[in-house]
Amino acid sequence: MGASKGVYCPGNMNDVVLDIALKHAGEMGGLLPCLHEVQERLGYIPAQAHGQLAEAFSLSAAEVHGVISFYHDFRDAPASKLAVQICCAEACQAVGSRELESHAPQTLGVDFGETHASGAYRLERVYCLGNCACGPSVRVGDVVHGRVNLAELSGLVAQGADA
Ligand code: FES
Repeated sequence: MGASKGVYCPGNMNDVVLDIALKHAGEMGGLLPCLHEVQERLGYIPAQAHGQLAEAFSLSAAEVHGVISFYHDFRDAPASKLAVQICCAEACQAVGSRELESHAPQTLGVDFGETHASGAYRLERVYCLGNCACGPSVRVGDVVHGRVNLAELSGLVAQGADA
């Protein structure tokens, strides 16, 4: 049986959040660097992670939510209507994400960190989508796609924009 396209699995996202939380849980004031790292890796801090973070830092989920909403840099949802996130972390780079990263701005007509002139989508780099075994990984909106090549990228974005 051939490998299927990677489908986003919330369990993988939980693993990413847990790894980061455990790394910072013993640090004084570790919640803020933890939140920054979660956002850097996932593109935002999902609401589903609040409980996990609260447990790691011995806080309530409401306290974690309070910190996230107090700092305007933190997002609890992808930054634009449709975030297109290309994984640039090591496992995906090893199987071809560098090509995606190099050509995505030209293919999609937008630079990293910017929103397309149409306002339809925003292009972002992320560092692990929890789908490492099926890289190169790209998240379009809420869906993580695996084994994405450059030829497929535009189609996935168009599909996501129409959804
Ligand atoms: S390294 Fe790309 S999904 Fe983990």
